Parts: sequence; C-alpha cells; structure tokens
Amino acid sequence: MCGIVGYLGARRVNDVLLTGLKRLEYRGYDSAGISFFENGNIKTIKKSGKVTELEKLLIGENCTGSLGIAHTRWATHGEPNDTNAHPHSDQSGKISLVHNGIIENYISLKKGLTKDGYTFRTETDSEVLTVLIGAIYEAENDFEKAVRLALAQVEGTFGIAVICSDNPVQLIAARRGSPMVFGIGNNEYIAASDASAIIQYTRSVVYLSDNEMVVINKDGFQTKTIENDLTKNKIHQIDYDLEQLEKGGFNHFMLKEIFEQNSTVKDAFRGRLLVDEGNVRLGGLSDVAEKLRKAKRIIITACGTSWHSALVGEYMLESLAEIPVEVEYASEFRYRNPILDEDDILIAISQSGETADTLAAIKEATQRGITALGIVNVVGSSIARDTSAGVYIHAGPEIGVASTKAFTSQITVLALIALWLGRMKNLSATQGKRIANAMKQLPEQIEKIYEKVDEIKAIADEYSSSRNFLYLGRGYNFPVALEGALKLKEISYIHAEGYPAAEMKHGPIALIDDNMPVVFIATKDEIYDKILSNIQEVRARRGKIIAIATEGDTLIQTVANHVIYIPETLPMLTPILAVIPLQLIAYYIAVKLGCNVDQPRNLAKSVTVE
Ligand code: AGP
Ligand code: GLU
Repeated sequence: MCGIVGYLGARRVNDVLLTGLKRLEYRGYDSAGISFFENGNIKTIKKSGKVTELEKLLIGENCTGSLGIAHTRWATHGEPNDTNAHPHSDQSGKISLVHNGIIENYISLKKGLTKDGYTFRTETDSEVLTVLIGAIYEAENDFEKAVRLALAQVEGTFGIAVICSDNPVQLIAARRGSPMVFGIGNNEYIAASDASAIIQYTRSVVYLSDNEMVVINKDGFQTKTIENDLTKNKIHQIDYDLEQLEKGGFNHFMLKEIFEQNSTVKDAFRGRLLVDEGNVRLGGLSDVAEKLRKAKRIIITACGTSWHSALVGEYMLESLAEIPVEVEYASEFRYRNPILDEDDILIAISQSGETADTLAAIKEATQRGITALGIVNVVGSSIARDTSAGVYIHAGPEIGVASTKAFTSQITVLALIALWLGRMKNLSATQGKRIANAMKQLPEQIEKIYEKVDEIKAIADEYSSSRNFLYLGRGYNFPVALEGALKLKEISYIHAEGYPAAEMKHGPIALIDDNMPVVFIATKDEIYDKILSNIQEVRARRGKIIAIATEGDTLIQTVANHVIYIPETLPMLTPILAVIPLQLIAYYIAVKLGCNVDQPRNLAKSVTVE
C-alpha cells in the first residue's frame, strides 16, 4: 500500500500535498514525489527515501499553483529508487499519475504499448497505466474518457489520482481494491488514500466505491463508474482524530494488521494463482525454476515468526514437491559450519528483509556457491538484493512489532511455491486445482473468523491473569502452536511455550494444573484423533482447554472448556486460518494488561544486529 494525495483549491498546493504525505507516510516510505502546475506545464519532483528527502528538494520551489498530486510509495514492482518513484508521466509529459495497488496485467499492457511505439523509463506497473492513459488521450483528446477507458483495461487493484496539463483545473481520482476518499472543502477538494490527509481542511468526505471515479473541477465534482454511469454518494462527517485515522479506526496497528489479512492473503496470491490450470505463475522465480525443480534439498532459514512460517513451508514442500527440506534458525546456520551440496537451494524468509542473522546466513550460503532465494515483504530490502531471485509477499507495511499479516502472507507464498514446484513434478492438475480453489476461498474464510472477535476477546479476558500458557498442535499446526506462543510472549510478557502435542507427555505435562490454560490447535485432519487423546491427557490433570477447531466439529465441545471454530480448509492451509484467533487472544490479553501492544518492551521491528 502507499499514500496518495491530490489537491484542487486556493491554497499553496505544495504545502497541502507535503503535509498530506507526512500524514500518510505510515502507509509506505520507500520514496515520495509530487506533480504540480508551473507555467502551464506539469512539474514533477520525486526522490527515493522518506518524505523529508522530497521536502529538501522543494525548498525554494515557489509553487503558487492550485492543482497537484503526490505519492509516498510502498514498492511492489520496481526497486525503491528515484526513477521508480511516483508520480509517473506518459511520453508526452501531459499526464501525471500516482497509484496505489498492483496492475496484474501490466506486462501484457506494456507489450501492447511497446508494439505501438511507446517507451518506458521505469520498472513499475504504475507507469504502464500512465502511458496507457496518455495513449488513449492522444487518440480521444478527452482526458476523463481516457482515464475511464484505460482503467477498464486494467486487471488488479488501483487507487489513483491523475492530472493532465491540458486541463489545469481538473483532478481525477478512482479506485478498485485500494482506498480512495475525497474531502469537500470551501471551494477546495482533496483526494487521498485515507482521511488523515484531509481532516485538517475538512471533515466532509466521500468514500469512493470499487470501479468508481470522481472528476473534480473548480466549480464542483461528479462521481461516476468507470463505465460512465453517474453515481450519487453520501457525504460523511469524520469524527476520528488523526491518530485513530492512521490506524484505520483501530486502537493499535497490530489489530489493524490482523484485520488486513483477508486482503493481504489475497494480495499474496493476486495475479499468481492460476485456478483453472491448478497452477501458479511466479515471475520472480522463473530464472531459477530448473534449479529448484532439480534441487536435492531446500534449506529454509529465518528468525522468529518467519522461522515458524518456514516450518509450515517444510511440510508443504516435502508433501507437494517431494523435495527434502531442512529449516534452520539463521543464527545457528551461520555459525555451525553446515554441510552443503552444490544442488542445495537456500530460501531466506524475512518480513523486513534486514534481519542481520538472516543476511549472514545468506552470505554464508552464497559464498559456498549455494543459490539463495528470498521470500520478503519489503521491496528492495537488503535480503531482496542479496538473493538471486525471490517472491515478494505484498503484505504492505507491517508497523506492529509483533508480526501478524506477514506470517499469513509468507505461508501463502510458500503454498504458491509448493504448488508451482509440485505441478512441475508429480502433482496432478486435479490436485493442483483443489489446492488453488482452497486458496482462493481463504480471504472470505478469514472474514468469517473476524466475526468471532467478541467471543475470542471474552476468552482472552478470562485468562488474562494466567502466568503460563501451553500451545499444542500437530503436523501443519505445530508451527502455529509455536507462533501463538510467541505472539502471547512478546506483547503480554506472559510465559508461553509451543510444543508438538505428542511431545507434551515427554515432560511439559508436569506443568499442567488447573491454573494452566492449554491452547490446542485441534482442526480436522488425519491425526485429529491423536490430538483428542492429548486433550484428554490435559483434562485428566485439570488443565483448562482452549481449542481451535473446525466448523461443525461437535465432539471437541465435549472435551474443551472453550472452542473457537474456524472454517474447514486443506490441512496445508489451516495455519493461515488457525493463527488468527491466536493473534487475537494475544492482542486482547496484552490490551487487558495495559501493555504497549505496537511497541513491546525490549523488542525491535527489525533486528539488524546479531
Ligand atoms: C515476530 O513477531 C517478531 N517480531 C520477530 O520474531 C520477527 O519475526 C523476527 O525478528 C524476524 O524478522 P524478519 O521477518 O523481518 O526477518
Ligand atoms: N505497484 C505500484 C509500485 O510498485 C504501487 C505500489 C503501492 O501501492 O505503493 O510502484
């Protein structure tokens, strides 16, 4: 995601746009840029880095114009550098556009435009949309129509603001899948990704719907669909304060990010999942496809939550792609002098892309001639640059120190890779379609879990005074048990341990008494009966049982004190659903205890030291 601002009115446009970008910087901070009118032409100034870097470039710019657009970027396609920064312009220089989202079909659009003689300066998908608008404008000589016709060709998501030098008093904004709201002031209008950039000027706002656009002129505005049907919208009065707006109305970034997972899981497979073929398209791995297919072993290395997703990946890759997988803590791998073979492949998983231990593990492997790949969230991060190929998880900025949406997006990408490799081997199209269809249902299934937030909060409140927790799971759910325990530990400071459920009887069962809440991930799979036995063992010692179970399972209610149901999916995808109640339990316990949920004591979002 990123931050977009567009302004038409009597104020100094650069002041409004820069202030707006600062309010939206939490949405992305790879680069920032601005376009405004000067002597009848559009002037664009843009720079990699934070908004303050752009601000330095604007000193001395005596911009008195009344129309402009601005962007603070969270890169998805193209390194976060000056060239790839937004705004983007078309070949004529008449069109300037800022974009939030992913143009899934940008490669095919770019091929068509290149064939028609258009050239490109950047690696981004957003520039392709800009050039497309410019090409249609050249033919139609109607700016608004050009925007509409171009957007109709786009597959994927967009929130855009766009201006044309032939229309110095017109601002167009549009959305599909990315947020876009515009404020109605006193003879001034401001469009933005969210209202935090608007409320300084007006609290009267209109939220655009998907496939809707607004054409703003000095004397008013008109909303319409991109199919050119006029629409009418309610004018809302915002009563949030600025801080609440940055958190999307949630009390903490962590809660906001937990509730983004229906979208971020979708963004992780968007444009990559080929449901009809039961296959996957992973452009970032095409150069190493043969190496991966022939790999004798895959070593996945990571830290913390990313190491937990690596464990899920191990089970997926061994099951679908039949490739032996080892999962290594990066901090251990780098020092234990591992035995490596030239046919090994290393996969590094990292949300930040800057974790020192993981970077060092990559360096250790590559200097021994091992191909290193990355599964990373931050585009252009050190791990993205130090690996020879990889897949971005497209989760957007994760501000909360406790990782939530990155975990589910990492698992989604690992499932894509396992499916892709499996289909290169012995996985049939039928099996592939079954997995692809199950993945496609995940966003809606996640939304069904969100509906249980009140019952989850009640359970969290009931056990918030406990001082120790056990989290138990088997198979794909064992890493979920580890992740649930880590979430609780790191934000509530309560001691919690995750274990393979069967391992409990080899020691930890001594801890069980009536003060010990035990969280079981007990979803329906081929080892469900075994987990039921483990639950009985805890019950026999008066442990309190909180079970994450599959919808429709009534048997579990006879043995657990509390049951949180999640929709049924394939065992390999269960971690994506089962972890959400555990994230919420940790969150609500930490809030109940008055902990600093977004910035827990002793922790950093990215551990860039050994
Ligand atoms: C997860 O909640 C923690 N904040 C931490 O364990 C984190 O997962 C770990 O430091 C790895 O970070 P990375 O994914 O950015 O490499
Ligand atoms: N996909 C566009 C880019 O990579 C926009 C990313 C965003 O939403 O910030 O530049």
